[in-house]
Amino acid sequence: MNQAATPICAAFNRQAAAYGHQAQLQRAVAWRLARHIARLPLPTGPQADLGAGTGLLGQALKQLAPRLHLLQLDGSPALLACNPLHPRQVWNLDAGLPAALQHSALLTSSFSLQWLNQPGPRLQHWARSLATDGWLVLAVPVQGSFPQWHQAAAQAGVACTALPLPSADELIAAAATELELVHCRKLWFSRHYGPGGLAFLRHLRQLGAASSSQPSLSPGQWRRLLQCWPSTSRVSWQILLLIGRRTPHR
Ligand SMILES: C[S@@+](CC[C@H](N)C(=O)[O-])C[C@H]1O[C@@H](n2cnc3c(N)ncnc32)[C@H](O)[C@@H]1O
Repeated sequence: MNQAATPICAAFNRQAAAYGHQAQLQRAVAWRLARHIARLPLPTGPQADLGAGTGLLGQALKQLAPRLHLLQLDGSPALLACNPLHPRQVWNLDAGLPAALQHSALLTSSFSLQWLNQPGPRLQHWARSLATDGWLVLAVPVQGSFPQWHQAAAQAGVACTALPLPSADELIAAAATELELVHCRKLWFSRHYGPGGLAFLRHLRQLGAASSSQPSLSPGQWRRLLQCWPSTSRVSWQILLLIGRRTPHR
């Protein structure tokens, strides 16, 4: 590890045993990314999954593209201990990438970039670490996600304490300075978590993904928030899927 675990990784550590059961959307997106990756013509060079966690993407790739062996890099030792793939490395991605990933053939990241301090600059750094003709394959929740939560907070007159998510347009612009974007889509995923908001908020906590830079609400504010939550059990995520290649002239 290049530093002590961040508070975000510590939250993932605490919930590591539950992650596999809770991460159904992450698993579905991992399979979608793996189907894209299996078709990419890769140059030689290192390959890594950044914020790999329990290895959902790597395990999908093991079935669809067994020739690939991605370094499993993550800041949570407990999630990596649940990851059956090798090699694995505990690493704080806020501090850049390991030197061994210079001139990478393939860097992937799913549901992790939003947790880093500066998603746009991180994304550019990852892109610059690619070899010529190397690929970056990314899935990341973006601004616009959880409209039900934002709507309930506005109606209740309390702060929305969801993790502030990066803007898709800003990430796309940052990536386009370094990469030829061959696939770039914003997708909506809606999932049912149970009525009234509480089940969704519990799901985030059980996943280890309830950290936020926002101060927590008081019990009374939580009650008001849940009273104003739309009656649907559905919560929507907007996910940016981005695949880019580092072309020779960049
Ligand atoms: C929602 S999980 C996604 C894991 C995996 N990619 C997946 O799709 O299941 C977010 C991951 O980002 C990792 N993470 C968050 N902040 C990090 C940091 N600063 N350095 C390294 N990993 C970090 C967490 O430990 C966690 O494994």
